[in-house]
Amino acid sequence: MSTLYLTRGLPASGKTTWARALVASRRPGRIVRVNRDDLRRSMVDPDYAAPVDAVERVISAAERLLVQGMLQDGVDVVVDATNLRATVARGWLALAEECGAHWHVEDVVADLEECVRRDAARPERERVGEERLRDLHARFVDPATGRMPPLAPPRRPLPEAEPCQHGPVAHENEWYFCLKHHQVEPWDGCRAADRLGPYPDKETAAHALEIAEQRNKAADEYDES
Ligand SMILES: Nc1ncnc2c1ncn2[C@@H]1O[C@H](COP(=O)(O)OP(=O)(O)OP(=O)(O)O)[C@@H](O)[C@H]1O
Ligand SMILES: [Mg+2]
Repeated sequence: MSTLYLTRGLPASGKTTWARALVASRRPGRIVRVNRDDLRRSMVDPDYAAPVDAVERVISAAERLLVQGMLQDGVDVVVDATNLRATVARGWLALAEECGAHWHVEDVVADLEECVRRDAARPERERVGEERLRDLHARFVDPATGRMPPLAPPRRPLPEAEPCQHGPVAHENEWYFCLKHHQVEPWDGCRAADRLGPYPDKETAAHALEIAEQRNKAADEYDES
């Protein structure tokens, strides 16, 4: 079974250095490094600089196809982009799972000031600049730990709603909020796709919409922060 290695980290933190060392440590042909900056350089006009949506979409599609194809062929892959946005990182993990591959997330942590120094020492075309580095650090690095927040596993598709089954299983402590009828109901109610829950009591189920909204807001803040 193949493995997807995903790095996370600030620009110039050492992700590519880590990825190259990983590739060098393995038998040739058993693992490949996929890097969208390298793909972009090889696939589009070398003068292309400022991001253009249409170009970035093509590069993303090429990147994804490569990773998918390699994993399905049993070759390990390391994707050494920043992957700081949780939705992006989780998208890669979901792709690995779709391909039946293992995954590993490698957080490459380096001090912000060190990243600024390393970035300034790079050739101009590779530099991201101090302002962007500080902005990314403020948005994605937890000041308390100096690390990226833990990454939740990818979302799996919800299982198909099961038809109601009246059986010996006890459901007396399960309460639901039906989105169709806007009411609290016991387990023996509307179909699963139309309702939120289970909640441990009627009172909590009555607040299902507020609870869901708070959770979504927290998830969005984490993804977009
Ligand atoms: N542990 C380290 N100690 C000192 N210098 C390092 C270390 N790791 C990487 N570097 C240097 O820092 C620079 C950036 O490293 P690298 O290209 O691996 O970063 P990166 O995280 O891949 O950056 P980017 O996100 O911009 O691709 C390089 O010049 C590299 O040689
Ligand atoms: Mg890199």
